[in-house]
Amino acid sequence: MNGQVAEDTFGNGAMAILKDIEHVQIVACGTSYHAGMVARYWLESMAGVSCNVEIASEFRYRKSFVHANSLLVTISQSGETADTLAALRLSKELGYRGSLTICNVATSSMVRESDLAYMTRAGAEIGVASTKAFTTQLVGLLMLVLAIGQHRGLSEPHRTAIVNGLQALPAKLEEALLLSDEIEALAPEFADKFHSLFLGRGSQYPIAMEGALKLKEISYIHAEAYAAGELKHGPLALIDADMPVIVVAPNDELLEKLKSNVEEVRARGGIMYVFADKNAHFKSDATMRVINVSHCDELIAPIVYTIPLQLLSYFVALIKGTDVDQPRNLAKSVTVE
Ligand code: G6P
Repeated sequence: MNGQVAEDTFGNGAMAILKDIEHVQIVACGTSYHAGMVARYWLESMAGVSCNVEIASEFRYRKSFVHANSLLVTISQSGETADTLAALRLSKELGYRGSLTICNVATSSMVRESDLAYMTRAGAEIGVASTKAFTTQLVGLLMLVLAIGQHRGLSEPHRTAIVNGLQALPAKLEEALLLSDEIEALAPEFADKFHSLFLGRGSQYPIAMEGALKLKEISYIHAEAYAAGELKHGPLALIDADMPVIVVAPNDELLEKLKSNVEEVRARGGIMYVFADKNAHFKSDATMRVINVSHCDELIAPIVYTIPLQLLSYFVALIKGTDVDQPRNLAKSVTVE
């Protein structure tokens, strides 16, 4: 892989559309929306395009501004989610330069009705709570950064970082899975809790959101996610020893800021579980349990840190005896509004 995206990666004729793109509008629901939120950090910092991300049920019912040469991107595991599909259909009347779906089902409505498609090829995803679809969506979105960026001055260091990051990813995910035993051992500390708070900054903020979503979906523990810089604006009032605080802390440029946020939680008597790069130098103590995630490039960290958070929800759900694959009240594919 040299960073040149193959002509057919996004479907026939994709480059004719992608070369014109100056703005990206992402629309999705649930876990797929969180993938879109990560992509906004990537597209704006590397591909030289502006990007908005919106929940499909909001996007479809409001009058939105369509930027010149804008690409409508739907992200969907199933390709059938009613609100996302409606947004795609609506976009055809709104003057978008084209539409792309990032999808896991080749025969789905979204793949059929989009100008372009990227297939995540995660294999059939059975569990209601989306897992492997999410990580493969993120890979597809990095490919989109390469594809759009190659027409808009993606820098050589960024191109190299993406290519190297994608090549390193399988090994890094294997390493993340090795945390399984450690995470299983701490899961009992969550099982009797009613509330939890997930914190992240930058591209890890959506990963905190995704971690919180997983925990609520399969273990029924109320979980909120906040960008750590927002702590002072409300959530600090909730901190006590009964609400575990989960912190996503790779070794990135926001680490020092995040460390200040950790101190804010500590000062209020919070109990923290910090998923951290070992070079970030967090130390376990009475109020903080550090789970060291093997070092990886900042670029792929959102994908790598997703795994331990998924494992945490899984092991907590097992202890609580909930149905991990088929949580109550939820459907895998939401094809009605
Ligand atoms: C449902 C599923 C979620 C999924 C969301 C969007 O709520 O339970 O796991 O993230 O729909 O689904 P999609 O197929 O569009 O990604």
